Amino acid sequence: MTEKDLYELGEQPPLGYIPKQMHAQVIRQDRFGEPMKAFQREVIGVPEIGPHDALVYVMAAGVNYNNVWASLGSPVDVIGARMKGGEKEDFHIGGSDASGIVWAVGDRVTNVKVGDEVVVHCGQWDVNAPDVVAGDDPMFSPSFKIWGYETNWGSFAQFTKVQAHQCLPKPKHLDWAAAAAYMLVGATAYRMLHNWAPHDVREGDVVLIWGGAGGLGSMAIQIAALAGAKPIAVVSKTEKFEFCQQLGAVGCINRKDFTHWGRLPDWEDNGAMGGFTSGARAFGKAIWDILGERKNPRIVFEHPGQDTVPTSVFVADSGGMVVICAGTTGYNADVDLRYLWMRQKRLQGSHFANDDNSREFNELVLAGKIDPCLSRVFPFDGTAECHQLMYENRHPDGNMAILVGAKS
Ligand SMILES: NC(=O)c1ccc[n+]([C@@H]2O[C@H](COP(=O)([O-])OP(=O)(O)OC[C@H]3O[C@@H](n4cnc5c(N)ncnc54)[C@H](OP(=O)(O)O)[C@@H]3O)[C@@H](O)[C@H]2O)c1
Repeated sequence: MTEKDLYELGEQPPLGYIPKQMHAQVIRQDRFGEPMKAFQREVIGVPEIGPHDALVYVMAAGVNYNNVWASLGSPVDVIGARMKGGEKEDFHIGGSDASGIVWAVGDRVTNVKVGDEVVVHCGQWDVNAPDVVAGDDPMFSPSFKIWGYETNWGSFAQFTKVQAHQCLPKPKHLDWAAAAAYMLVGATAYRMLHNWAPHDVREGDVVLIWGGAGGLGSMAIQIAALAGAKPIAVVSKTEKFEFCQQLGAVGCINRKDFTHWGRLPDWEDNGAMGGFTSGARAFGKAIWDILGERKNPRIVFEHPGQDTVPTSVFVADSGGMVVICAGTTGYNADVDLRYLWMRQKRLQGSHFANDDNSREFNELVLAGKIDPCLSRVFPFDGTAECHQLMYENRHPDGNMAILVGAKS
């Protein structure tokens, strides 16, 4: 193959040869809005890498909710925030999941080499920051960023610039699309369920999982089931029950059977508060009906946020934990503190994953113990469409992927 400045999609350059330009799905500030409007294909210069980085030739990219937020420019304008921090690029190339081939490495990189087939986790941090060098969890470092959301040069492009420690072995039994689909949601769910001692998920625990058929939920059900726990999935349609049960859920609840969602009424308004309490009690009874006993969830796996947190705190067991990584329905969630303190419950924030969490989760996938739940594969120019479906909550169960370098 001749060496040239720009290759068409699926036309692979010689291994290690870096063209000047690449095709990328790009978001710009003047296009902020729904994903169908925000994403457009453009030709952009291939980024240079630093000493700890790797340039990865992207075969497939995974689809996550964070780039719905990036399209909207809300709650954070990721482009504006980076430019304020001194970066010169006035565009965003998103994409926080990838499978691909290592194409170049910086001179301090030892864990991967050109030609390695990898999946990429999305945690970046300043590898020279004093707290990181001292061995603190880099997830607590002020330098922590989500690659392909808070950083530029994500996987919706022919080449992506990553820190080499983000690269993990690609499972050989998975094709490029399936390998691109699982890491962000899987490692996030793994940390939520295995990082917050003493609330690591364990045998016999009841675990309530919101959005059981979604990206996070489908991973959480499998992780909980692998630990011998009893995952109960909440979904919005009975048609989703079978999908969750096949992954290991012991039962499912249709949230549309209840109406008490949203923020709590004023605590001085006894009547309105009573309405919430009876709705939450009925929801708790649905959990007991599945279990056949009056047992409450030791762990509640939260991410919808504002609509569901009051119920999550209500139904969590005494001494149990509500672990939360998002506020999809809003971030002003109300907590009836009486339940929190009297029943000594824990409300624990959790955000993506560190190298150890990601590696441990990837080992489960490498061993064939976790199904990436790839539901639908889109062509490169379907990047806007799959994010639009996600924005409208009309996307299929499980996880979606986009073909970049891979042809099928
Ligand atoms: N902090 C982190 O590191 C991190 C990592 C991954 C994801 N996230 C965030 O977590 C959220 C979920 O991500 P995801 O990939 O799982 O998205 P997803 O695939 O869209 O799944 C989310 C699920 O939430 C459910 N849902 C929607 N509205 C709801 C409501 N009002 N009440 C209860 N459930 C509702 C939906 O299921 P039903 O309609 O069937 O109930 C949907 O399937 C997003 O905001 C994402 O940005 C954060």
